[in-house]
Amino acid sequence: LKHEEYGPARDDAERAIFSDMIARSFGIPRAECPTIIDRAGRGNVRVVREDARPIAGLALIPMGQWFGGKRVAMTGIAAVAVEPFARGRGAAKRLLTSMLHELHAKGVALSTLYPSTQSLYRNVGYEQAGSRFELRARCADLSPDPRALSEEVRALHLVRLDRPDDPRIRAAYREVAQRSPGWLDREDYLWGRLPEWRGETREAYAALSGHDLLGYLFLAQKRAESGRHDLHVYDFVAVDSRAARRLFAFLALHRSMADDVVWYGGIHDALLMALPEMSYRARLLYHWMMRIVDVRTALEQRGYSASVQTELHLEVHDEVLPANNARFILHVENGHASVKPGGKGRIEIDVRALATLYSGFLSAESLAAAGRLKAEKNDLARASAVFAGQAPTMPDMF
Ligand SMILES: CC(C)(COP(=O)(O)OP(=O)(O)OC[C@H]1O[C@@H](n2cnc3c(N)ncnc32)[C@H](O)[C@@H]1OP(=O)(O)O)[C@@H](O)C(=O)NCCC(=O)NCCS
Repeated sequence: LKHEEYGPARDDAERAIFSDMIARSFGIPRAECPTIIDRAGRGNVRVVREDARPIAGLALIPMGQWFGGKRVAMTGIAAVAVEPFARGRGAAKRLLTSMLHELHAKGVALSTLYPSTQSLYRNVGYEQAGSRFELRARCADLSPDPRALSEEVRALHLVRLDRPDDPRIRAAYREVAQRSPGWLDREDYLWGRLPEWRGETREAYAALSGHDLLGYLFLAQKRAESGRHDLHVYDFVAVDSRAARRLFAFLALHRSMADDVVWYGGIHDALLMALPEMSYRARLLYHWMMRIVDVRTALEQRGYSASVQTELHLEVHDEVLPANNARFILHVENGHASVKPGGKGRIEIDVRALATLYSGFLSAESLAAAGRLKAEKNDLARASAVFAGQAPTMPDMF
């Protein structure tokens, strides 16, 4: 591994080369690519060079991700691109491996991404850890007649917010994100995309009780040739079922001109219980992949059920990051964990499967059955109890 070939893009010229690479790799109009880099932050571009010229690059998005009610430091990976002429000879693998060494040195716990091919990312230690669905319903099916809503739901008033960065929006998001495994603690890059992204403007609407914001959504209308349109909702957040019902009723009020409502998230979601019927359809868009960059930090930063008190003896295999390739004792008590090196290594697990277990995506028993983990029955049950939780999801795409 020649680390001198890897590093931050040095100047505007290198960023312009990366920008063109993004256009070629993702079919995004060339004019839009510099904005992607600017929003991600110029200092967050990493490249691999050949003959002193970048041939591969990616953008780092430092943020957090919620697991067990706690924020874990996570760096999102976006825009992984290799010049078409330089593909198939290990450039992407070199780029990702060097990037992981850099994140590990910085003490980052996790890294998450949306894969275009699983094998590339599995190769360097990422594995499936959560899902993102598209949910779709007929606008007219979303709600009973608004006049038939209960008094407590009608008591919430619906307003359009002028400021997409209203601090009450962020507070409501945080409240829901905290109890939703896999949701992001967004930084400016992702918050900035909500009101406007790639030429589409989205308006913010909120359900208020007095001054308190109990739910919100960002709404865009996509017009069809027929003259009718679909509603696209980005961020559909309700802190309770009253707010969920109020927002669904608001969407239903568009039904004279709107056909479908589309939003994104999970299928195990309290939001869906606010609907009287299963009038929605779900389509899996992606299983996002996660990498445990630092085993100890990752285990210590996430939260755990306060009713679980136990110890796991792990033997982790990691071919890319040697510090993770070791035995650890995980002690869980009062909702917190402490990790010590050593132990008996009773649970033998590859770092990829550890990501799947950690997020709550699969139980230890399922991973064992899939040949991805080895342990005795009692240790499997303990591991499953430690990481159990609501199915991990993510409404965002990056
Ligand atoms: C995907 C992409 C980044 C791969 O770059 P690359 O330099 O050709 O990949 P590498 O040569 O480093 O391949 C590394 C490993 O991943 C695997 N791999 C790479 N591309 C793959 C693909 N399209 N399908 C399946 N496996 C792939 C290789 O088999 C290789 O495995 P090996 O080490 O066991 O042989 C590149 O094709 C690209 O830029 N594509 C367009 C944009 C894109 O898809 N970006 C990723 C967004 S998440």
